Amino acid sequence: MFPGWAWSQHGAGAGILNTKPNSAFKPDVEIEFIAQIAEIQILPGPRTSVFKYDGKVLRGPETALLKSTSYLGPIMNLAHGQKVRIFYYNKLPEPSIMHWHGMHVPQKMDGHPMYAIEPGERYVYEFEVKNPAGTNWYHAHPHEMTGPQVYRGQAGLITITDEQEQKLNLPDGEYDLPLVIQDRRFTAGNQLQYIFGMHERMTGFLGDTILVNGQVNATIPVKSRAYRIRVFNGSNSRIYKLGWEDGMPLTAIGTDGGLLEAPETFPYIILAPAERVELWVDFSGRKPGTDLTLQSLEYDFPQMGMGMGMGGGMGMHGGMGRGRMGGRGGMGMGTARLAQGEDFPIVKFSVVEKVSESPRLPERLVRMRNLPESDIANPDQPVPIAASMEHMSPLLNGASFEMHEAMDIERIPLNTIRKVRITNEHGSMMGGRDGMGGMGGGGRGMRGGMGGMGMMMLPHPIHMHGQQFRIISRRLKGADTDSYASVREGFINSGWKDTVLVMPNEEIDVIKPFEDYTGLFLYHCHNLEHEDLGMMRNFYVS
Ligand code: C2O
Ligand code: CU
Ligand code: CU
Repeated sequence: MFPGWAWSQHGAGAGILNTKPNSAFKPDVEIEFIAQIAEIQILPGPRTSVFKYDGKVLRGPETALLKSTSYLGPIMNLAHGQKVRIFYYNKLPEPSIMHWHGMHVPQKMDGHPMYAIEPGERYVYEFEVKNPAGTNWYHAHPHEMTGPQVYRGQAGLITITDEQEQKLNLPDGEYDLPLVIQDRRFTAGNQLQYIFGMHERMTGFLGDTILVNGQVNATIPVKSRAYRIRVFNGSNSRIYKLGWEDGMPLTAIGTDGGLLEAPETFPYIILAPAERVELWVDFSGRKPGTDLTLQSLEYDFPQMGMGMGMGGGMGMHGGMGRGRMGGRGGMGMGTARLAQGEDFPIVKFSVVEKVSESPRLPERLVRMRNLPESDIANPDQPVPIAASMEHMSPLLNGASFEMHEAMDIERIPLNTIRKVRITNEHGSMMGGRDGMGGMGGGGRGMRGGMGGMGMMMLPHPIHMHGQQFRIISRRLKGADTDSYASVREGFINSGWKDTVLVMPNEEIDVIKPFEDYTGLFLYHCHNLEHEDLGMMRNFYVS
């Protein structure tokens, strides 16, 4: 163990809150964010009490913030190379801190939970935008409370632009659309309802109402031309299998950390919590009055076992051809009515106007930084990120979160490029692999990656703070499964990533630079309930 006391004595005041602006820092943009309780109209009837970010631009272009009338925070529009100062005021009734997800900033500016401030306090961020053009986001990141705070509204998008992107003349202005997808659950009085009990905490929160950009039953009017759509999964734990209702393939032009080198098409795209995908969507040739729905398609979700009684129930479900636990019936576990893997509509685009001109999809997009495998400093000893569920607690590298600690394997020499190997295997108490699959006679619900007797294997969206990484390989260890087959064509493996979904028994190698900044940088599961249960660790870069 790398002791916390040594860490806190290291460097300039680690752990000390940054409450004052630095007069030597000359910001191009200065923004104020206030996190506070607000009452927002989401459903007809009573308003919903939420935790909302409000903001205003104090210096620099007014377009740096796009006001939001929903419960989401304003969209922050930044440019590569800009110096940004942010005054963040916590007016929530609990501690919090803001994190700039996907952005490469110094430790003290990254919103590590050690910097959470109390109600009434202020935190000052100052950083230069080092990321290329793309779509990032910000959210609350306090210790053990990220799930509920993000759930209540503590999140917003960040766009970054740069010269390379501008040369492409991608659709912009009204043709550049954000699409924030979230699932929520409401009480009869229209208030947000969160977790029911430990079972739901272990699987992650699933809501039965889909919100897009903070709206229910979202319909977006479009013209018959091409759009750039920045899709972001802002849900706590729901994984979407994006697909068009008419079977049209999806064209991706960007991932978490920026634009791709060239567009790529997919029959469907799997989007896990925190992931982004930028789509090129061309409505040309579609008639006014018609519409097109973006759906989440059905997939076979690897489920958990909760003992023999559950196994029986499951089998029945499988036998009826539904193949999923906690399907529409709920199967007595008090789980969401909209199960993970269920199909449902997300948003409807309705063509309202015919236009004759539309931009063409560029054949090539951007030049990405070359990150050859020969630059990897540890080709034979990848840094492990081993996800597991043990004793009913989700772990990384066998350990739970410790605020200031890093193990030896988590110490990274500054300015090196590392191979990181992400795995997702059975914990020590797991029963037989696929052990209960046969129960219920012909049920297919349990196949694919679960153990017996109260243990589970779930997919985990693994996120690393700091610089974006690239995926170099992805393979399934062990037998192929129905679950894997139902998602495998939807992973985008090119492009910059900060979050990658690791399926049960999958092994994913990534290449990641650890440059510029020393200190503690988090890595964690972005299933927010898992994160709050301690499925989070630090890298210590020095
Ligand atoms: Cu979305 Cu630790 O972050
Ligand atoms: Cu992050
Ligand atoms: Cu997880």
